[in-house]
Amino acid sequence: MARPLIAAINLAALRHNYQLALGQSATGTAVAVVKADAYGHGAIPVARTLSDLAPAFGVACIEEAEQLRTAGIQQPILLLEGFFEAEEIPQLLQQQYQPVLHSQWQIDQLTSHLQQHPVKPGSLNVWLKVDTGMHRLGLAPEAVTAAWQTLRQLPAIGEMTLVTHFARADETNCPVTEQQITRFQALQQQLQCPASLANSAATLHWQAAQQGWLRPGIMLYGASPLVTGHPLGEQLQPVMTLESRLISVRDLPAGEAVGYGGRFVTSQATRIGVIACGYGDGYPRQARDGTPILVNGRRCSLAGRVSMDMMTVDLGPGSSDQPGDPVELWGNNLSVNEVADWCDTISYTLLTGLLPRVRRIYSGE
Ligand SMILES: Cc1ncc(COP(=O)(O)O)c(C=O)c1O
Repeated sequence: MARPLIAAINLAALRHNYQLALGQSATGTAVAVVKADAYGHGAIPVARTLSDLAPAFGVACIEEAEQLRTAGIQQPILLLEGFFEAEEIPQLLQQQYQPVLHSQWQIDQLTSHLQQHPVKPGSLNVWLKVDTGMHRLGLAPEAVTAAWQTLRQLPAIGEMTLVTHFARADETNCPVTEQQITRFQALQQQLQCPASLANSAATLHWQAAQQGWLRPGIMLYGASPLVTGHPLGEQLQPVMTLESRLISVRDLPAGEAVGYGGRFVTSQATRIGVIACGYGDGYPRQARDGTPILVNGRRCSLAGRVSMDMMTVDLGPGSSDQPGDPVELWGNNLSVNEVADWCDTISYTLLTGLLPRVRRIYSGE
C-alpha cells in the first residue's frame, strides 16, 4: 500500500470559482493567477482546466510562463513582477509575455533594448504598475505620466494597462483601500487607459475596483481571503482536500506526554492516533494543540508537535477509530482558513507550502 497522504484536487470546483470571479467583471476579463504552481495545485492542470474560460494567466516569472507555454497554453501570460534582469527581454518578446513594469530600471532597460533591437510595431503589451499605497512595487503616482509617455512613444508597445495592488483589501471596512482606489482613478482619468486593480479580496468585495482586468488568485482555489464572512466568499468551493489515514492508534492513561518535547499531555484516558502527514509534506510544524482534524468525518484535535512524516491526534476516550481510517486535514469539510488560523498563518502559505512528495490526484475534469 502506498503512503496514504494525497491532495485531492477538484477541477470542477476550480471552474466554479473562476466563473464566480468572472461574474464580478462587467467585461468578462479576469486574469487567472496561477503563480507558485497555481498556489500548490499544479499550474499545468489548473491552466488547462481554465483554458476555455480564462482570457489570460498570471505568473510570477518567466520560468513559470515557460512551463505553461510548453504545456500548450496559448493565452497571453502576464508576468506579475515583470523581468528580473535585461537578459530575459528577448525571450519575453519572442513569446509575447506581458510584463508588469513596476520600477524605473525596468522601463530604462526595456526602452534601451527596444531602441537597439526593434521588433514588430505594437507586438508587446505592457502593464504599468503604480504604487497607490502598498509601498511594495510600483512607480509613485507622480512618476506615472512621464513613464507612460516614454513607453507610449516606443513603436513596439501595443496595449498598455495601468495596474495597482491593494495592501488591505481583505479588511472589508478599511479606508486605505478606498484611498488606493481614489488615487488610481485620478490617474486613470488622466491617462484614459485600461485598468487592473482587483485581487481576490477586491473581486469579492470592492465594487469600485471591479473594472478592467480582475486578477483573482486565492479565490480560484476556494479560500476566501476576507477577514469577515461574505455571501460570495461562502459560494467558493474548496479545490484541494488534503487527505490521509490513521497508521496507528494507542490507548493512553491520563498524564502521558505525546510526541517530541512532550508538548501534549493527556488530561484523561484517551486514544491517540498517528496520521501519515508531517512538516516534511508541508503541514505547518507551528500547528497548535487543538488544531482541528477530521477523523472518520468527526472533528478531533491535534495532540503534540507535528513531526516530519507524522502527526498525532486525540481521538477521544472510548473512540473506536482504527488504523486505515480516513483523515481530512483541510478541504471539503474542514476550511483551510480555519486550519491556518490555528497555525498563526494564512491559507496561502498552507496551499503553496504543500511539498512535491504529496501526490496530487485530479478529478472533475
Ligand atoms: C500583483 C498581484 N495580483 C494578484 C494577485 C492575486 O492575489 P490573491 O491571491 O489575493 O487573489 C497577487 C498575489 O499575490 C499579486 O501579487
